[in-house]
Amino acid sequence: MTNETLATIKMRRSVRTFQAKKVSEHNIKQILQAANWAPSAHNQQSWRFIVLQDEKKQALANLVTNKANDFERPTSALLRMAARSITSAPVVIAVANTGDLIKHGMDLFKVKKEMGLDFFRTMEIQSSAAAVENLLLAATSLDLATVWLGILYLIKDEVLKFLGEPNGEFMAVIPVGYADKTGKGPKKRNLDVAARYLS
Ligand SMILES: Cc1cc2nc3c(=O)[nH]c(=O)nc-3n(C[C@H](O)[C@H](O)[C@H](O)COP(=O)(O)O)c2cc1C
Repeated sequence: MTNETLATIKMRRSVRTFQAKKVSEHNIKQILQAANWAPSAHNQQSWRFIVLQDEKKQALANLVTNKANDFERPTSALLRMAARSITSAPVVIAVANTGDLIKHGMDLFKVKKEMGLDFFRTMEIQSSAAAVENLLLAATSLDLATVWLGILYLIKDEVLKFLGEPNGEFMAVIPVGYADKTGKGPKKRNLDVAARYLS
């Protein structure tokens, strides 16, 4: 690797079990700040970060475990695994889209109404995804581990209500902590499969 940023990008791995060790408030702030520095469509920064610790975090884990009963395997098992990760991590950061771009997009971009909702919603999702990746990388750079729990989308209405964002859109729930054990993680495809030069 040629520099620290590239090394951090390569080092990031999804981690699902964590040590009991706490994450400092300073580190939580640094991670949130990195997420907030992400690019966003029309600089609308249409994201909200919700930090959960202690009882609130456990209440979210309980909600996920309860809702897992509404699904068949393997989804029920994946939801229970997500709940265990939430319990295991000392801090969880949830990310929701605010809907601000969807609300004001028409004034900003002047696109046809038929295109509007799909375009602005996609722009919000892409902006928040950039924020989530910033968050994951910032955590990695601080020797912290994370996992992006997308499976909670399946119970998004209950999760958003619990987070106090009933009008938002679910993006991610991210347990953050010190890795219990670190593996090499899954293999990545070679670049010659993932990328091509148009000629
Ligand atoms: C949008 C998205 C949703 C994901 N949802 C889950 C999830 O619900 N549960 C989980 O354990 N991992 C989840 N992951 C993590 C992936 O499983 C992981 O990124 C992938 O296996 C590659 O491993 P790596 O992150 O260690 O490179 C998600 C990742 C992304 C980008």
